[in-house]
Amino acid sequence: MLDLEKIRKDFPILNQEVNGFPLIYLDNAATSQKPQVVIDALTDYYKGYNSNVHRGAHTLADRATGKFEATRTAVKEFINASSTEEVILTKGTTEAINLVANTYGRQNIKEGDEVIISTMEHHSNIVPWQMICEEKGAKVKVMPINDDGEIIFEEFQKLITPKTKLISVVHVSNVLGTINEVEKIIEEAHKYNIPVLIDGAQSSPHFNVDVQKMDCDFYVFSSHKVYGPTGMGVLYGKKAILEEMPPFLGGGEMIKEVTFEKTTFNALPFKFEAGTPNIGDTIALKTALDYVNEIGKDNIAKHEEDLLEYCTAAFQGIKRLKIIGTAKKKVSVISFLIDGIHPFDLGMMLDAKGIAIRTGHHCAQPLMNRFGIDGTARASFAIYNTKEEIDQMVESIHKIIARF
Ligand code: ALA
Repeated sequence: MLDLEKIRKDFPILNQEVNGFPLIYLDNAATSQKPQVVIDALTDYYKGYNSNVHRGAHTLADRATGKFEATRTAVKEFINASSTEEVILTKGTTEAINLVANTYGRQNIKEGDEVIISTMEHHSNIVPWQMICEEKGAKVKVMPINDDGEIIFEEFQKLITPKTKLISVVHVSNVLGTINEVEKIIEEAHKYNIPVLIDGAQSSPHFNVDVQKMDCDFYVFSSHKVYGPTGMGVLYGKKAILEEMPPFLGGGEMIKEVTFEKTTFNALPFKFEAGTPNIGDTIALKTALDYVNEIGKDNIAKHEEDLLEYCTAAFQGIKRLKIIGTAKKKVSVISFLIDGIHPFDLGMMLDAKGIAIRTGHHCAQPLMNRFGIDGTARASFAIYNTKEEIDQMVESIHKIIARF
């Protein structure tokens, strides 16, 4: 059992009124709130030892470098990578996917080749592949899903051909909450030596991730969804693949030696980290991961499963409400529609009561097209959310429905 009272006190932002009501923050799939320890880690860095990393010969620079690299180690442990060389620090999930598309993709995808993604991808796992495929004269193929929002595995198998160069698939859908059976997809892809990238933006906050056990070739996630700062994220890649990939951005840090005639590149992971990185936010990510580890990933998963079950049952009791995304395995993300009320209007009316949800296409327009809708309302839960908050949302929805 989580000590919810204590956890809620760790997040200062929760203790406020919005539009005259206590804030109920149910937009965690967009970004999670930050505990005070994370905010402190950021201010400690800027107040106490702001310096550039890997460069200086002075005490503050050493301290910043030590803390910066400690995050890399914490990330390695968080996802169980086999070494810190496999952990590339990026601006976020989007940059990490673009990095792979522009390095591995540009090197390996040729005219007539194919990249497979799924119907439920976020735009960040669609557009980079479209861009590189367009450049190369290659093709993006899409795994279909069923009406519950689950990938149809047999249909995915049929998409694999000798021309398939990479499979990139989301671990957990930001819209449907579906937990995809990525292990099965990876096993199938590896039968044909096809590498697989897993978009972990929505899985990393909710349950334990073990990249070695999963056997994915790449795994990407964002700091700001795991209670860390924005503007910071991670690309995990298997060392053997990263070694073969050309660099992404050119500049300082990623080089070994530069002459006007030729440049040689730095070793992993620095080959992919050109320029001064986002030092403060990177350091604070370790604090966020420590915080999550202290509460325990399994405890978080259990609490969020309870909230999902509770909210799903409550929503099923609302006649005009339809849940979009009814997969057997889900995280605590619920998209829904209310007959006769536009999601945007619903979002505005809930906001007037201090309840924050997200509405719209959630950066997944092709998925909206699959369901024949423009958008949904979406409530998404995190460690600090409570059943009482769900009760408040449900009560507000009942009142809104009664008015329309
Ligand atoms: N991708 C984030 C979301 O689903 C921003 O809301």
